Amino acid sequence: MSDGTIESHLEEARRFPPSPAFAAQANAGDPAVYAAAEADPEAWWADQARQLDWMEPWTQVLDWRPPHARWFVGGRLNVSANCLDRHLAGPRRNKAAIIFEGEPGDRRTLTYHELWREVNRAAGALKQLGVGKGDRVTIYLPMVPEAVISMLACARIGAIHSVVFGGFSATSLRERIQDSGSKAVITADGGWRRGAMVPLKQAVDEALAEGVCPTVTAVLVVRRLGALLSVAMDDGRDAWWHEALAEAPRLCPPEPMDAEDGLFILYTSGSTGKPKGVYHTSGGYLTQAQATMRLVFDLKDDDVYWCTADVGWVTGHSYVVYGPLSAGATVLIYEGAPDWPERDRFWELIETHGVSIFYTAPTAIRSFMKWGDQHPAGRDLSSLRLLGSVGEPINPEAWMWYHRQIGGGRCPIVDTWWQTETGAIMVSPLPGLTTTHPGSAGRPFPGIAVDVVDETGAAVPPGEGGLLAIRRPWPAMLRTLWGNDERYRQVYWSKFAAQGLYFAGDGARRDADGNLWLLGRVDDIMLVAGHNISTMEVESALVEHEAVAEAAVIGRAHDVKGQAIAAFVTLKEGRSPSGELIAALRRHVGERLGPICRPDDILFSAELPKTRSGKIMRRLLRDIAEGRALGDVTTLADPSVVAGLKDRYEQHEG
Ligand code: WT7
Repeated sequence: MSDGTIESHLEEARRFPPSPAFAAQANAGDPAVYAAAEADPEAWWADQARQLDWMEPWTQVLDWRPPHARWFVGGRLNVSANCLDRHLAGPRRNKAAIIFEGEPGDRRTLTYHELWREVNRAAGALKQLGVGKGDRVTIYLPMVPEAVISMLACARIGAIHSVVFGGFSATSLRERIQDSGSKAVITADGGWRRGAMVPLKQAVDEALAEGVCPTVTAVLVVRRLGALLSVAMDDGRDAWWHEALAEAPRLCPPEPMDAEDGLFILYTSGSTGKPKGVYHTSGGYLTQAQATMRLVFDLKDDDVYWCTADVGWVTGHSYVVYGPLSAGATVLIYEGAPDWPERDRFWELIETHGVSIFYTAPTAIRSFMKWGDQHPAGRDLSSLRLLGSVGEPINPEAWMWYHRQIGGGRCPIVDTWWQTETGAIMVSPLPGLTTTHPGSAGRPFPGIAVDVVDETGAAVPPGEGGLLAIRRPWPAMLRTLWGNDERYRQVYWSKFAAQGLYFAGDGARRDADGNLWLLGRVDDIMLVAGHNISTMEVESALVEHEAVAEAAVIGRAHDVKGQAIAAFVTLKEGRSPSGELIAALRRHVGERLGPICRPDDILFSAELPKTRSGKIMRRLLRDIAEGRALGDVTTLADPSVVAGLKDRYEQHEG
């Protein structure tokens, strides 16, 4: 039986120290920050919290009764006031807070003062609908400014928002409305995706049909498509956003909130079971979102910052809305797809708006690699000065491509590890201080304590793989799972209860310099002839091959070895599958990582099954490789991909 240590085979020797010019101007420029934070983490976090405006000071930094933490006890603040009102007194008043571009190319800019005005009206409108402090509001919108306005309006009156990604179905929406007990829903007639209209209001009507969501008394509808898509309005329940805002008072003062009052619930599906309502509160969350924004993204007042995440994910909460706006950033928001109308849309946006900080996901980077270098090469990307990655381990080859083709070899890359549950970045380079390595997320953020341990909770030595665990509470940590504290204890705190560690569910290795290398979800780790092997390392070796764009690796049941390695491989544009290529790929992985890591099966596929947030669903690939009926496919972005793969795998087996 395995003890939880994971073998690591991927050697990565390339190193990228910060340039002297970048280091000289960096917000985090003094390496002593790590030791200072470690010597007194509570004092460090209190310093970060003092960057915010408080209505009432806290009396205690941390009250930790495992597994429940309260941060900044007794402090009062309002999150929307920190994102808006406090910027109005100074030069940021007329600075762009949001630059919006819709998929069809429509543009809108909102200054901090304009955004503040809209949020006041929206908050007033919610109040007039009977929404108050502690009530839940479900937000189901495209990536339009009203999504940000709605979130901040909730925060202003102390309502708890639950944003549901606009790509989720009516059934998923219904389940989340019911679990949160929402009083109101904010939606739009629809939005744009790859030139097609997404009928959001219709999905809300389906979700609420037949009185299955009795808590909902009001629905606000943003007009995005107008005459292009007519929607049914229920007289007693539905109101147009623009009409409700026009009737609302001009001002709505920010509600003084306890640091531990709720800010949002965000549902995360995980691979099995009912979605978990991850619950975040106000003071600690904003403290860490804001501190990481300044120090990890090195935000300056003249930056144009673009995080490509949808507000339906936590990245969109912490790094489209709360982190950047509390830090006074100019934030670009784009509604649509990266390949619409052309595959250079993102690079066109960077060129047009002069984006200087760009934050995206490895899955997107691998798509760009697959589409070819000509797309970024045809655009002026010289405004960029910092790049970020989040969501999955970034394969070293994808890192190098990002560095060269997007960053022009000059931009530091911050590979940021965190989770919906952690609320904000936990492990990342600090771009003026850290020598980065392609594929490593660097060190824990100052004040964060991370351990790599075995199944028993004992630390594993540097160089060996194990399980990632977090040693002490952090300000932006989830406080519980909505309505299910027992599940909160069980999922995150029961595995290492004796040591009091938070179990993150990821494999990781720490090198001799203290850098962390994430190895993927523990559930995905393979056990081949007694060796624990990371799917991520085999995938990274495959992606190194010049023909390969993307790979998904799984362990399938094997009589002798326990598990055998199966790889699903997507080729770059213009490359074709062949028996020789299969042999070459097996040989390459064997040489790179050792014969034990050589895949037994390789199947080429034009697409891989992914969740709507872009993560590869390895569980489904295991079902395919082991000839099982397909499990739940409802969280997939495109369910047809997996059905097609199943047919092909079975033919190839036969
Ligand atoms: C899981 C959390 C954090 C916002 C987006 C995802 C994986 C995330 C990295 C990274 C390696 C990463 C982990 C983590 N992950 N970032 N930089 N390197 N793995 O949030 O949906 O809650 O997923 O994403 O497996 O546990 P999430």
